[in-house]
Amino acid sequence: MCCYILIPVPTVPVSVFDPHSQYAHPIFGLFQLTLVLMIAILLLVTGLVTYILMRYRPRPGRTPEINYGNRKLEVLWTAAPLVLLLFLFVMTVRTVRASDPEKPAGDADIVVVGHQWWWEIRYPKLNIVTANELHIPIKHGQVLQLEAADVIHDFWVPQLTRKEDMNPGWKNYIWIGADHPGTYLGACAEYCGAEHAWMRIRVIAESDDRFEQWAQRQKQIPSAPSSYDAAQGAKLFRERTCANCHAIAGTSASALIGPDLTHICSRETLAAGAVQNTPDNLARWVHHPSQYKPASNMPDLQLSDQDVRQLTAYLETLR
Ligand code: CUA
Repeated sequence: MCCYILIPVPTVPVSVFDPHSQYAHPIFGLFQLTLVLMIAILLLVTGLVTYILMRYRPRPGRTPEINYGNRKLEVLWTAAPLVLLLFLFVMTVRTVRASDPEKPAGDADIVVVGHQWWWEIRYPKLNIVTANELHIPIKHGQVLQLEAADVIHDFWVPQLTRKEDMNPGWKNYIWIGADHPGTYLGACAEYCGAEHAWMRIRVIAESDDRFEQWAQRQKQIPSAPSSYDAAQGAKLFRERTCANCHAIAGTSASALIGPDLTHICSRETLAAGAVQNTPDNLARWVHHPSQYKPASNMPDLQLSDQDVRQLTAYLETLR
């Protein structure tokens, strides 16, 4: 544990140019339409200005003709922007309707809560709690209920859905879906404090079967650790105050301040996407969280190398 090498997560672009869901396609379509129109206007205006500057530049012996109040031109350049804006207004309303359809009545199947600086993810009907990696079945669109535990965050996975704020004391709802199975990266899009940049979210879109398999695994209560190190780690987890913040199903740890760790090692990343979830990274993260996420609320517990080894051995059993 003498040196700390940050092993970053392989980069997956947070791209607004590559929509992958029925809710993101209309937004990208409107963006392209607006972009093309604006480029056309830019070219028209700069072209006309350039032409007029050249054509009517001062020349010896010629005074430019002064021309006021051309009614036809006045009407043209008032009506054209009006029609254009009306057209864009209609297209925007259509896009909003397509990307944000009416919500079904009743409670949402998935609740996402923004925390400084991680995402709590709950499936109340399935009795699953996880963090930072949102699994969705791709067959149907899903409604997400968005909340915040502390300050304003903003859920943003541009390939799959629109952007939406998460406000303390208020619930917002968005639809999410994916055309194809895959992992889609998102981020918090509202500055929420020092580690805002390390508040990444992954959406793992899966076939119904794979989603069902994942859900079944998540519902399982981890069995008591069998190896000596892991059993010692479980004891340390209780004694060294980890349990004051983190819950693990089937144990007395039930606090909700930090991420639920019941299946921590089934996740791809640690610290809301800051590092890949490997045994080495997990050990480093537990040992000195501030090396990865300097303002993180996870304290440095001054653990010995043996403590770290045993805690990691325990956490590695939580799959
Ligand atoms: Cu949460 Cu920015």
